[in-house]
Amino acid sequence: MRLLTALPAPDARLLRGLPDPFPGGRIFLGGKGAGAMAVRKTDILDLARMKAEGQKIVMITAYDALFARIFDDVGVDVILVGDSLGQVVLGYSDTLNVTMEDMVRHTGAAARGRKRAFLVADMPFLSYQPGTADAIRNAGRLLQAGAEAVKLEGGRNAAETIRAIASADIPVMGHIGLTPQSVHRMGGYRVQGKTDPQRERLLDDAAAVQEAGAFSVVLEGIPAALAAEITRALSIPTIGIGAGVACDGQVLVMQDLLGLFEEFRPKFVRRFGELRKPVGDAVGAYAAAVRDGTFPGKEHSF
Ligand code: KIV
Repeated sequence: MRLLTALPAPDARLLRGLPDPFPGGRIFLGGKGAGAMAVRKTDILDLARMKAEGQKIVMITAYDALFARIFDDVGVDVILVGDSLGQVVLGYSDTLNVTMEDMVRHTGAAARGRKRAFLVADMPFLSYQPGTADAIRNAGRLLQAGAEAVKLEGGRNAAETIRAIASADIPVMGHIGLTPQSVHRMGGYRVQGKTDPQRERLLDDAAAVQEAGAFSVVLEGIPAALAAEITRALSIPTIGIGAGVACDGQVLVMQDLLGLFEEFRPKFVRRFGELRKPVGDAVGAYAAAVRDGTFPGKEHSF
């Protein structure tokens, strides 16, 4: 059960410099009965404060309860149920076939796994482009599934949608630059903002997203210098992926950083682990033990 959820609009409070009415933060009760533990919940006020204090925001994708729990336990700030789900979980070649039903199911799973991290869910292709009424309804479904904010792709062209969703008191994270749902318009997954007109357009997109009421924005696949310029210009936190070190935070897809995904190795990914081989080795050892009759042993039998 979440307690003390009714907070005033965060940006308004921060801009006016008012004191936080709940300085200990909102509390999330994890567990039941005597085992219940109070956990300090990360919220959008924390993310705004982190930018103001120059503290980097750590964001990672997760699509199920187990990994959401592991990432929460090690203290990541934001978990994103990304529509990268399409490629790294569902086996599609792009994100265009991910549905609202997919996102609701995986958002619910990740929400059940995490206690403290702020949970953002991606709005899939065609869940917000047709119109603002659909966009609000679908964003609301993701909140009902357990997300605390939604993310959608687009700059000035998405401003009206961002404004409508934010007006329904649903926090929105923008996403500009290399926007995977626009793969065909971009002619592939290409770095954006390399030419002067593209650079101007991205600066304008960033301003439009903030002005429309987004609380944060992902900058994907853009030159580091441009990301630094956008980060300085905006008062909301920027989260980079392939956008250099100056962003207020960073996000990576979990399968990329864990070294599980082989099909595609973007330049911007650092593999902080190489888990594909140990996972393959463990399953190979299991298969061999089943085949030679050494598993299960007496200790595994009743
Ligand atoms: O879908 C996703 O995982 C994303 C991140 C890469 C930012 O949008």
